[in-house]
Amino acid sequence: MWDFFKTVRHRHSVRKFRTDLPVEPEKIHAILEMACAAPSAGDLQSYHITVINDGDMRKQLSVASDNQAFIAEAPIAMVISSDPLRAAGKYGERGQQLYAVQDATIAATYAQLAVVAAGLGSTWVGYFDDDAVRTIAALSPELNPIAILSIGYPAELPEATPRRPLHEVVTTL
Ligand SMILES: Cc1cc2nc3c(=O)[nH]c(=O)nc-3n(C[C@H](O)[C@H](O)[C@H](O)COP(=O)(O)O)c2cc1C
Repeated sequence: MWDFFKTVRHRHSVRKFRTDLPVEPEKIHAILEMACAAPSAGDLQSYHITVINDGDMRKQLSVASDNQAFIAEAPIAMVISSDPLRAAGKYGERGQQLYAVQDATIAATYAQLAVVAAGLGSTWVGYFDDDAVRTIAALSPELNPIAILSIGYPAELPEATPRRPLHEVVTTL
């Protein structure tokens, strides 16, 4: 297992996947456990994760995401949805508008890092037709899909992407 800093540094969006190498179910299970280890408002975990193995459904997700082909290619797609009503029960409008999206986002982030630690690659997909994804992933009506993670063994070594310098994004008072 890599240490945390190495794991973060090695996370790059992977958009080419080995189609001949399926992902071991134990690795998917471990990734899901790490996603659920993320903090959440009131420990409510106001999100839902749909794991899609089915190739036909992944093709449909790819079409629903402006034909981003790697979604069909990657052996696994995880649809991470927020559950605003769950957060609203305890936190009202703030829970519904903000916490549910934050809970789902943090869970997806933990999942993306666990993917790297497990020797896999992923890309976070945010550009999709919400209603189409709802239908394909058979989501309950109260759920809002916020991210698709395409996951598999990388078939490319992506270049590191640049980041804004710290002084531009950080204010120390
Ligand atoms: C909210 C969000 C939405 C994104 N949507 C897409 C997407 O629809 N398609 C895609 O190929 N990458 C998508 N990405 C991945 C980013 O393009 C990528 O993280 C960014 O360029 C930095 O590159 P890196 O992940 O390799 O560090 C998204 C990332 C985030 C966080």
